[in-house]
Amino acid sequence: MQGGVDFRRGGRRRLRAASAPLAARGWVARRLAAAGLGAVFALLLPAAAFAAPYWAVLGDSPQARSIQHLFWIVIGVAFVFLFGIEGALLYVVFRFRARPGDEGDAPQVYGNRRLEVWWTIVPALILVVMFIFTVRAVGEETAVAPNALPVTVIGHQWWWEFRYPTLGVVTANELHVPVGRSIDFTLESADVVHSFWLPLLGGKEQLIPGQKNRWTFTVDKAGSYDGACSEYCGGAHAWMRLTLVADTPAQFEAWAKAQAAPAASTGASAQALRVFTQNACSQCHAIRGTTASGAVAPDLTHVGSRTTLGGGVLANNAGDMARWLENPQAVKPGVLMPDLHLSADDLSTLTAYLEGLK
Ligand code: CUA
Repeated sequence: MQGGVDFRRGGRRRLRAASAPLAARGWVARRLAAAGLGAVFALLLPAAAFAAPYWAVLGDSPQARSIQHLFWIVIGVAFVFLFGIEGALLYVVFRFRARPGDEGDAPQVYGNRRLEVWWTIVPALILVVMFIFTVRAVGEETAVAPNALPVTVIGHQWWWEFRYPTLGVVTANELHVPVGRSIDFTLESADVVHSFWLPLLGGKEQLIPGQKNRWTFTVDKAGSYDGACSEYCGGAHAWMRLTLVADTPAQFEAWAKAQAAPAASTGASAQALRVFTQNACSQCHAIRGTTASGAVAPDLTHVGSRTTLGGGVLANNAGDMARWLENPQAVKPGVLMPDLHLSADDLSTLTAYLEGLK
């Protein structure tokens, strides 16, 4: 071979040695570029996420704010260590990098007792402090106030049942609470493990078959809050959404009174009741004030008053209700509600009846 590198006789090693400083510089540049890009993302991400309804470190309840404080303490400590360690790493990489003419290995250090004692004690102390803050936050999430409103939340594949034992109200997927009053949640499951999650109102708690979990929060701002099941519970887990509506005390009282009343639909007719009770509907669903008393699917006594259908998969209006009744499997694959093969006439009668159940 002429004028080039002879790969057969150690040429590869010589080539690598000659280009090593250049390669090292490229490596450092790539590392720096990646670190810079990471920093930009880290700065941009919260700006976008702050507006989202699932951004868990904004709080509209004292319990959520307590989690938020804990979050910022942990993030703060983590960032001190991130920048401290990465800074030290970068310093060492630059300060002690290989230079032309360096021969042999750097001095090898095995063990340093004083250093090892310190890097055991400091993290242990930090963990103790974080543990104290965590226990305090958990205590705030479970300390139920004496005048709290009891609400039972039952997770089903894939919808939420809300029962107000002191008010005689049963509803689904849409939870109303009065602003400023502590809510005493009892969490249960009808089938598998689910997780009750209202990001802006505080933490998550599991719904476990055969067990009753307690949970509490107080909403201090009127408005509508998005929630979801946050634990995988089967095919349609993603469509196990919920809405919490925080009403003023007067609005809540009016809502509860209307919800406790028996069904009264503007679309009621003999045909509507026949369609509902002669098909499979009434075996699964209840409508108080009729003979339909099924208990495995959402109570429909006031279904027309809710904002969504099918655990949040559709808006609640006549068009979407008809779409849902016509073929629920097409809208929410895996849903336990079967396709009822309703005639066009029965479909429109049933739609008007259910939408009229305000
Ligand atoms: Cu219920 Cu995921």
